[in-house]
Amino acid sequence: MTKRVTQERVRSAAAALRAGGLVVMPTETVYGLAADAFNRSAVREIFRLKGRPAFDPLIVHVLDMAQLVRVVRGVPAAARGLIDAFWPGPLTLVLPKRGALPAEVTSGLPTVAVRMPRHPVARRLLRAFGGPLAAPSANRFGRISPTSAAAVRQEFGGKTPLLLDAGPCRHGLESTIVRPRGAGFEILRPGAITAEQIEAATGCRVRLLRAGHASPHPEAPGLLEQHYAPARPVQLLPMGWRVEGRRFGKRDALLAFGRGFPAFPGPVRLLSQRASLREAARNLYRLLRELDASGARRIFAEVVPDRGLGRAINDRLRRAAGVARE
Ligand code: TXA
Ligand code: MG
Repeated sequence: MTKRVTQERVRSAAAALRAGGLVVMPTETVYGLAADAFNRSAVREIFRLKGRPAFDPLIVHVLDMAQLVRVVRGVPAAARGLIDAFWPGPLTLVLPKRGALPAEVTSGLPTVAVRMPRHPVARRLLRAFGGPLAAPSANRFGRISPTSAAAVRQEFGGKTPLLLDAGPCRHGLESTIVRPRGAGFEILRPGAITAEQIEAATGCRVRLLRAGHASPHPEAPGLLEQHYAPARPVQLLPMGWRVEGRRFGKRDALLAFGRGFPAFPGPVRLLSQRASLREAARNLYRLLRELDASGARRIFAEVVPDRGLGRAINDRLRRAAGVARE
């Protein structure tokens, strides 16, 4: 399913970045909208194209430790265990930033969110460009992250910058954002790496931060309640719900987890036939997009088991529905 991207195409993309342009880059989580992290006007262009408020900081992507030290002020001992265990991969660390990194990238915060992607095309681009790339998900602000080139084009249409199409993303869900805190870690956004994996790898306590409501300066704006949302209203259904006794119409759509619902009158999509959370994560955004475009009036989504990747999936479903987490 992955698509080949020629080296010539990667070189053109690197040249576009050097000229201050934007590039859509595949990663193992979702597609990113990349710019030279040290080029202020290119970074401002990311915010403009996404319609993203200036207070919502970007994630910086690095190829290796040499690129990492260009954006952070040293690597705290606490972070090293996580780096050894999960980089390159879908884990983002919040670390003290270096003064030279433009304040636009971090929305003026003293910290920077940084990760080392594993996707081979992202790595080829980072190598060809030769420096850190600031890249949020390649979607308009508040909307669903894109997990394919088609989804990116849906977001930006004719304004889509040079796009490296490597096929669908493997995880389909954004990286986990982690901040070292005291003797343990705080998860600011649950994602492709689970809290259980972090605990097992580090032996440290992991605390999942509560959704940050709509405060004007949230700790991590990805925690804004209404985020990752389709255009159609989303309503959650508890595990074990039944079609009988509820009123649904033909224009209601259903996103279900591990079993079908033949009695449901409208369009139905299954996150995973075999109730696999990994497969569900990979399908989540693609199927939400499909149902959003299906002509349905409302989308009903069944919550999934609240463990491992299920926590990240439920987090996104709750945000899509505009419901804060407990
Ligand atoms: O998987 C991913 O992380 C994808 C791919 C492209 O790497 N990127 C992504 O970026 O999801 P974005 O911009 O959609 O989400 C970045 C989030 C922000 O909304 C914010 O919550 C958090 O990262 N963030 C960035 N800098 C931060 C900082 N200094 N402190 C706390 N949170 C920060
Ligand atoms: Mg995003």
